[in-house]
Amino acid sequence: MYDLIIEDGTILSSAGRRVADIGVEGGEIVYIGSRPGGGARERVSAIGRFVVPGFIDAHVHFRDPGHPAKEDWSSGSRSAASGGVTTVCDMPNTSPPTITAEAWHEKAAIAAARSVVNYGIWFGAASGRVEDARRMADEGPACGIKVFMGASTGPLLVDDPTLVQFFERTTALMGVHAEDEGVLQAQRVLWEGRTPPTHHDSRPAEAAVTAVRRLVTLTREHPRPVHVCHVSTEAELAVLEAVRGELPISLEASPHHLWLNHESPLGNYGKVNPPLRPEADRRALWAALRQGLIDTIGSDHAPHTREEKERSYAESPSGMPGVEFIFSLMLAAVRQGRIGLERVVQLCAEAPAARFGFARKGRIAVGADADLVVFRENDLVRLTADRILSRVGWSPYLGQNIAAKPEMVFVGGSLVARSGVIVDDAVRGSLVSPSRGA
Ligand code: DOR
Ligand code: ZN
Ligand code: ZN
Repeated sequence: MYDLIIEDGTILSSAGRRVADIGVEGGEIVYIGSRPGGGARERVSAIGRFVVPGFIDAHVHFRDPGHPAKEDWSSGSRSAASGGVTTVCDMPNTSPPTITAEAWHEKAAIAAARSVVNYGIWFGAASGRVEDARRMADEGPACGIKVFMGASTGPLLVDDPTLVQFFERTTALMGVHAEDEGVLQAQRVLWEGRTPPTHHDSRPAEAAVTAVRRLVTLTREHPRPVHVCHVSTEAELAVLEAVRGELPISLEASPHHLWLNHESPLGNYGKVNPPLRPEADRRALWAALRQGLIDTIGSDHAPHTREEKERSYAESPSGMPGVEFIFSLMLAAVRQGRIGLERVVQLCAEAPAARFGFARKGRIAVGADADLVVFRENDLVRLTADRILSRVGWSPYLGQNIAAKPEMVFVGGSLVARSGVIVDDAVRGSLVSPSRGA
């Protein structure tokens, strides 16, 4: 007896399409084929629809428990699920900063109690914490080690000698916010007391490319997997393309760098680190994405409130919400002919699962977890505030025409969201950790 059979859907992967039934038992895919024998507690027709693995967003900042207006694991995970993201990895620069085993376990417990999607939790690199990181990420349950090379929102920043220690003494996947603190500091002096024309002027491409060059040098000296977060400039792409295939460096792009540029009329709502860039950079990112140089999409979901974004430039925190609309934006890109559906599945599910070693995620196969998204290709619709589930209630894409949210989103075989509405609040995701060995 199956718990669930999803019938007649068109299953999509980077390898192609196939119409089949999917049988689920105990949260796992146990059958894929033309007609499963035996009964099912629930049957869902996916006729005329696509079925894809739930999206994995390995870059969210779910923020501070206890702040009444700010995102937390309840609201953040629901907004993710409604938009087809069934696994998130949370960054360490929120509260509590996960730079100790205790803080890491505290955050995992919060997520276990509240999250409707699966969750990985990054360990934050910090001075004097190399041994903790080794235990928690090389050997333990953390999804990777996150390094801030330049100061951004939150308390974490790693200086170069500390970064070298991490390269020398740890081996886990290292996710890097690559902006060079030296370049940023020089800019702070330059802009002291003044508001730059755009945020990009105060955090120029030079900061990003200097940091990326340093990472290339360190990775060559001490090879280990490095994932460059939110690549935003043509200059970074050029440096990273040159070592493609030689060094184990993968690239993440964020939707806001793909959809917005530094002239977008967003004011502080468009303030994010690394900044929105000139149009030429945005176009270079799309070219890199089509060409295969970009490996994954991560939203960098940084849900600051309207009240915070209405402050002065200097007082307004960097970051914007994003996890909820990755699916809708990528589907819009498909609709506009910029990219194929198979590539979307690769970027948003298969590649992150493979890179992070989430063996049961990112594919529709017997033995994989039943994190599934069912959708139809539809006309694009104008994004309005009433469709936003994130507690912050705004999006940089408000007013833009993007795809509707998916029709059905399953986490571990349970239907959590239907057409953008949470239908089962009691579902809880599970911890995802890299599988080692074998
Ligand atoms: O804009 C950003 N916001 N960039 C980061 O690196 C951090 C993030 C946040 O945590 O708000
Ligand atoms: Zn970052
Ligand atoms: Zn981030």
